[in-house]
Amino acid sequence: MSTHTASFFWGTSTSAYQIEGGNTNCDWWRYERAENTHAVEVCGDACDSWNRYEEDLDILVGLGLNAFRLSVEWARIEPEHGVFSRDALEHYRRVLEACHARGVTAVVTLHHFTLPLWVADAGGFESPHIVSWMATYAREVSASLGDLIGVACTINEPNIVAIMGYLIGLFPPQVTSWDRFVAVNQTMRACHIAMRDELKAGPGDFPVGLPLSMQEYEAVPGFEDELNSFREEMEDKYLLALRGEDYVGVQCYTKLIVGPNGVVTDPDGEVTDMGYLYWPQCVDYTVRRAIALSGAPIIVTENGIGTADDTQRIRYLDEALRGVRGLLDDGLDVRGYFQWSLLDNFEWTFGYRPRFGLVEVDRLTFRRTPKPSAQWFADAVRDFFTTA
Ligand code: BGC
Repeated sequence: MSTHTASFFWGTSTSAYQIEGGNTNCDWWRYERAENTHAVEVCGDACDSWNRYEEDLDILVGLGLNAFRLSVEWARIEPEHGVFSRDALEHYRRVLEACHARGVTAVVTLHHFTLPLWVADAGGFESPHIVSWMATYAREVSASLGDLIGVACTINEPNIVAIMGYLIGLFPPQVTSWDRFVAVNQTMRACHIAMRDELKAGPGDFPVGLPLSMQEYEAVPGFEDELNSFREEMEDKYLLALRGEDYVGVQCYTKLIVGPNGVVTDPDGEVTDMGYLYWPQCVDYTVRRAIALSGAPIIVTENGIGTADDTQRIRYLDEALRGVRGLLDDGLDVRGYFQWSLLDNFEWTFGYRPRFGLVEVDRLTFRRTPKPSAQWFADAVRDFFTTA
C-alpha cells in the first residue's frame, strides 16, 4: 500500500472558458463568430458555472474528491490593458473561498487557451510584450488570490496553444508555420518563468507548475527521426526546461503514430468521439517520460475520454488508474490525478458534441446529472489506497 493516502490530490479539471459562459471579451468568443474558422458552434453560456460554481463544488465533494482544478479568465480580470476588474477578482475570491469552505484544494490555472482581445489584437503570443503582460497579470492574480490558491498552474498546455494556433492553424490566430510554432513555444517558456516568479513572490505558499500536453508516440519504422524532432518541440524542450520546478503537470489522452502522413491516430484501433485512439495506457507512459526528462514531481492534471458511451469512460478510467497505481508502486513521485472533466463542456473547435464529463449538463436548463461513471470514480478513489 502506498503512503500517499492523505496528501494525494484526487480531483477533476475544468477551465473557465469551457464552463463559465459569457466570456465575451476574449479571442475564442470572436473566433467562433468569424468567417472561415474551424469552430462548429459557439460557446455561449457554456455550463453557466459562473453562477453555478457552488453546485459544481457540492457535486465534487459528494464524490469524495479533495481537489478542484479551475482556471481564472484573464479577459475578465484585465479587460483592458492595465485595467483590473475588482468585480472579476472578487468573484474568483468567492469561488476559491467556496473551495476552502468545503475542504477542497483549489488548483488554479492562470491561462487556459484564451487571450483577452486587447492582447490578441496586439500580436498575442508573438507580441514582444507578451512576457511582461503575462507577468503583470500573474502579479495581480497572486496579490488578489494568492492566499487562497492551493496549487498554481501558469499556462495550460502551451505546446497545444503553439501547435494548434501557429502550426496547424485550427485555433486562433490560425497560423501555419513551423518557425512561428517553434518561436511561440520558446516564448511560452519565458512566460512561464516570469509568471512563476510573480506567483512565488506574492502571498501564499503553494507549488507552481506547468501543465504540459503529452502523448504516447510511436514511429512507423523509418520515421523515428520525424518523431524525435516533433516530440522535441512538443515535449522535450519543455520538460528539460522544467527541471527543478515544484511539479510538472502531465495531461494525456491517447497514443499518436508518426509516419508518412505526419502525426495521426492509429486507424486500426478503437477510437473515441474525438477521433483519438482509445489508449488509457498513456498515463503510465507519459508520467514515466516526464519524470525521466524533468526529474520533477508529477501531478496528472488532466486525463479522460470524450465519449457518449459512459461504460467506455469507466473502462478507460479503470485502466488509467491502474497506470497510476503502477507508478506509485514503483515509488515514483506522483502527487495527484485529475480527471478531465467534471462536466460535459465546450470542447473548443468540436463544440458540445464530445462528452468528457462525469456529469451531464442539460444544454437548456443547465441541470447537472451525474453519470454512472461519477459514482464509479468516487468508489475507485475511495478504495484506491486500501485495495491492492
Ligand atoms: C485541454 C482541455 C480540453 C481537453 C480535452 C486538453 O487539451 O486542456 O481544454 O478540453 O484536453 O480535449
